[in-house]
Amino acid sequence: MNRHTKSHEIRIVFPQVLHFESLPSTNQELAQRAVAGAAEGLCVVAAEQTAGRGRLRRNWVSPKNAGLYFSILLRPQFAQDSWPLLTLMAAVAVYDALLETCGLQTDIKWPNDILANEKKLCGILAETIETPTGRAVVIGIGVNLAKNSILADLTPSATSVEAALGRACEVNQLLEVLVPVLSSQYETLQRTGGPESIIREWCARSSYGDGKLVQVAETNELFTGTTRGLERDGALRVETSTGEIRFVRAGDVTSVRPG
Ligand code: BTN
Repeated sequence: MNRHTKSHEIRIVFPQVLHFESLPSTNQELAQRAVAGAAEGLCVVAAEQTAGRGRLRRNWVSPKNAGLYFSILLRPQFAQDSWPLLTLMAAVAVYDALLETCGLQTDIKWPNDILANEKKLCGILAETIETPTGRAVVIGIGVNLAKNSILADLTPSATSVEAALGRACEVNQLLEVLVPVLSSQYETLQRTGGPESIIREWCARSSYGDGKLVQVAETNELFTGTTRGLERDGALRVETSTGEIRFVRAGDVTSVRPG
């Protein structure tokens, strides 16, 4: 069946959420289950992680009952050069779930950090894994809910829902909204015109999509420019002072104050 032909033929459901008191990492747990044959849509949540993983081999501090530590398994059938859109999609879903559950207005920093008051509130880590039935992706989402979810020395750059709102947000409430929103965004992504739709939704929620002065740190280079939208695969277009448009697919993007 061609999943892109008729929208009524797409049936993606995420029926199963496994809850754990403690895990080294929800991404690690789900990767193991994926190799053992777990189906697309399996979700894993833990009350704490003892070896939470962040981007660039960093740790993700995950104290007990202080945050949402969540992973979902996807087995996308579309071309792998579009897989970066999965993390943009996840960021859109977290943005919507935070707004609906606790009325918190956030921003998305390219590609997928969720910010409140310009500080990081949520990180998303997508890891591809080889399984006997093909390549799969585990998307891990960590949301700082309580003030004690972040280390004191991270306070200048990190925040929590509790710090941003003045009240905490209940983890299960957030999860109940996040899972169906994520499922629906994933369906959208697989339809004809889905990539354009996800990019539109992302740009509507992010101040980083267009006209933002940013500094880009790539492996061997640092440059500054103004954002000019996203490519079809999710790459960020950045116009430098010479008028050259550069396409950012990896690297850290930070906002620069004009002047
Ligand atoms: C980042 O560095 O911005 C990404 C952080 C992703 C953290 C989440 S918490 C749930 C899932 N399990 C992990 O080990 N990491 C991700």
